Amino acid sequence: MTMFDLKSYIASAYEHKSLPGGLSDTLLGLADAAIEIAKLAANNGLDTPNLGGLAGGLNEDGDSQKQLDVMSDDLVCEALSAAGVARYFSEEQAEVKILTPDGQIGVACDPLDGSSNIDTNLTIGTIFSIFDMKDCVNDLPPMGRKQLAAGLFVYGPQTALLLSFGDEVAAFALSEEGRFIRLEWDVQIPASSTEFAINASNAAFWPAPIQTYIAERSTGGAAKTSAMRWLGSLVADAFRIFRRGGVFLYPQDSRTGYEQGRLRLIYEASPMAFLIEAAGGRATTGTHDILDIAPTSLHQRIPLIFGSADEVKHIIARIAQ
Ligand code: AHG
Ligand code: MN
Ligand code: MN
Repeated sequence: MTMFDLKSYIASAYEHKSLPGGLSDTLLGLADAAIEIAKLAANNGLDTPNLGGLAGGLNEDGDSQKQLDVMSDDLVCEALSAAGVARYFSEEQAEVKILTPDGQIGVACDPLDGSSNIDTNLTIGTIFSIFDMKDCVNDLPPMGRKQLAAGLFVYGPQTALLLSFGDEVAAFALSEEGRFIRLEWDVQIPASSTEFAINASNAAFWPAPIQTYIAERSTGGAAKTSAMRWLGSLVADAFRIFRRGGVFLYPQDSRTGYEQGRLRLIYEASPMAFLIEAAGGRATTGTHDILDIAPTSLHQRIPLIFGSADEVKHIIARIAQ
């Protein structure tokens, strides 16, 4: 098998697309940071104190920060600074960080997704979105469709990377030698599926069409036809959907603070939607494609429904009824 690694994949992208010079260093810097985060996660409680413990702070969303949230944020920030990135928009920072004032590239990142799972030895990850600073409006990242690249790292049984420049999704796994090697996996999300992922404990608060959809999928009429899967790590639920299809839903609900759901537009929903569309799936708020939404604030939340195209279409139709 030819060992086609991340570096050569990026180099081949430069041959086919017009990409800014700093993009390669940005991606390789993120990969280096991810390798360090994976090591920290693997050594949790061994050569470090408990990384799932509280760091003492709250992020802008009011989530309590875990040790690994803060350490991952520092690692990503250092890597991006060394790569000459202009601005770093982080889920863990109150304000945007100016790194290289005359840089061309901006990055938005959820440095550690699934932080409630650090201690549970379940898959966690890092989500990133890369864009050209000239596309920024009002000091905010552009709408998702203008991303230059997006991706996610997962720290699970394998440390893996899904990366897209918009036309396809390439999958890599971290080798023992510390290189991201491309997997022979054509990342295409099956159009239909019977698996759904939602936090069902919020059912009483969902809008009626979501209640109807989940009820319909939960009973399947006379025979059970669907299965529910919910890991509590967006990256892990998404990785499963890239592999074998399914839908993920975090809709808005009637709890205070959940009027726009839970997930954040620029750090989570936009990069996820970029990957999902490149893999043939769909990502929507229920009424609008996620990629068409221009952010209006740094830590804006957004209802997020994504996955197998036909199933998402069915949910959109339910909501429109
Ligand atoms: P983060 O750890 O970056 O704050 O993200 C957690 C997210 C996401 O990973 C997951 O799908 C969702 O929150 C789970 O939310 P609930 O605890 O409400 O189910
Ligand atoms: Mn997250
Ligand atoms: Mn996070």
